[in-house]
Amino acid sequence: MSEYLTIVRHPLVQHKLTLMREAGASTAEFRRLLREISQLLAYEVTRDLELTTRPIDTPVCAMQAPVLAGKKLALISILRAGNGLLDGVLELIPSARVGFVGLYRDEVTLRPVQYYVKLPQDLAGRLVVAVDPMLATGNSAVAAIDLLKEAGATDIRFMCLLAAPEGVARMKEAHPDVPVITAALDERLNEHGYIVPGLGDAGDRMFGTK
Ligand code: URA
Repeated sequence: MSEYLTIVRHPLVQHKLTLMREAGASTAEFRRLLREISQLLAYEVTRDLELTTRPIDTPVCAMQAPVLAGKKLALISILRAGNGLLDGVLELIPSARVGFVGLYRDEVTLRPVQYYVKLPQDLAGRLVVAVDPMLATGNSAVAAIDLLKEAGATDIRFMCLLAAPEGVARMKEAHPDVPVITAALDERLNEHGYIVPGLGDAGDRMFGTK
């Protein structure tokens, strides 16, 4: 991708995002909208995938038809909210390999600590798409990308629903080779680390927790 930050301004994405932001949206609505937007974002994230051709027979004649070239994609969900984006993308790209990265913030050091990591074996040579709805401080995103690089990934993209300028700056500084694709760039983080105007805690809204 040529741009570091891509904001997907498609009217359907923007409309659905507004519905998700509203405090009154139900858990079921929130989850459905997130799945729908994830597919529209995935369309952008995969826009430049390479194609090759293979011979097929249509009912009318033989032809050389386009198919995706190269190794299957790897989708990496940053737990737990990443799963809300993962499901929709997997519907669109069912053959993708899937990995999970679980991180929590150490209350003393404020650094992300791994509690669960399960990655596909051969990340090198695959397009690796890391998904997390909220790019807030950028700390977990940077730590997750560090892990993916240590595991051999060389072609990584980060897909989120909302980004804060602080998170984008942190990612760009740490991983300038990892493009960020988002539905919106919001104003800022508040003192609690929430994106403003944002949509609250994405995990809680998606899973109906508090
Ligand atoms: N994580 C969330 O779920 N929401 C925010 O606003 C920031 C981080």
